[in-house]
Amino acid sequence: MRLLERLGLSSQTYSEVIMITEIGQGRYNAAPVGVRLVGELLVLRLFRESLSYALLKRSGRCTLSLAWSPDIFYRSVMNLPIPVRTPSGFTMPIVEGCDAAVEAEVVEVVEGDPATFLLKPLKTVVFRRMPRAFNRAVPAIIEALVHYTRIPVYCRMGLGEKLHEAINRIKYCVDAVLHSTRDPVMRGIALEILKHSIALADLCRVTPP
Ligand SMILES: Cc1cc2nc3c(=O)[nH]c(=O)nc-3n(C[C@H](O)[C@H](O)[C@H](O)COP(=O)(O)O)c2cc1C
Repeated sequence: MRLLERLGLSSQTYSEVIMITEIGQGRYNAAPVGVRLVGELLVLRLFRESLSYALLKRSGRCTLSLAWSPDIFYRSVMNLPIPVRTPSGFTMPIVEGCDAAVEAEVVEVVEGDPATFLLKPLKTVVFRRMPRAFNRAVPAIIEALVHYTRIPVYCRMGLGEKLHEAINRIKYCVDAVLHSTRDPVMRGIALEILKHSIALADLCRVTPP
C-alpha cells in the first residue's frame, strides 16, 4: 500500500488536514481543508473567497499537515498563532507536532466556486507510527468548526434559516464533546466555538426564522 494511503488518505472520504500557504515575507496562512487522494494526486476544493484560494493559486505550493488535534484546528480557524517548523527536504513549514505532513504543488486548477485544485505530492514526512484510539470529542469539535466557518457565508447570503440550523448543529456537537470528555482544554474549545458562533450570528442582520 502506498504511503499516503497508509496515512489514511482515500479517494472516497475527505481527510481533514491543515493547509499552509505562503503569504510572503516569511508569513504563512493556515486553514483546515478537506483532501482526497485520487490516483497519484491530492484533490481539494477551495471557496474563492478564502485567502487559501488566492494564496494557493498564486504560489502553486502548500503543505498539508495531518494533526489529530482539536486545538490546532481551532487555532487555524480563529486565526490564532500556530507553532510551525520546516522539516528537512521541505521548502515550506508544517504544523509542529503533527502526525505527518506532505508538501505538494498544484498541477491543475478547475475553476468554479469552490475551485478544484489537483496537487502532486512532492515530499512526505511521518512522525507518528502508534495508532490512536477513536473518540467522539475530537470529531465533534472539528464538525462544530466546520459549521462555524459557514456562519459568515450564510450571513452574507441572507440565509437566516441556514444560520439557525448551523447554530443548532454546533450546540449538538458541543453537547457530544461535553458528554465524551472531561478534558478541560477540549471542553473549553467547544464552549468557545459556541460562544463565538452566537456572537457572529448576533452580528448578522438576518433574523432567524
Ligand atoms: C474541518 C474543516 C474543513 C474545511 N474544509 C474546507 C475546504 O475543503 N475548502 C474550503 O474552502 N473551506 C474549508 N473549510 C473552511 C475554511 O477552513 C475556513 O473558511 C477558513 O476560515 C478559510 O480560511 P482562509 O480565508 O484563511 O483560507 C473547512 C473548515 C473546517 C473546520
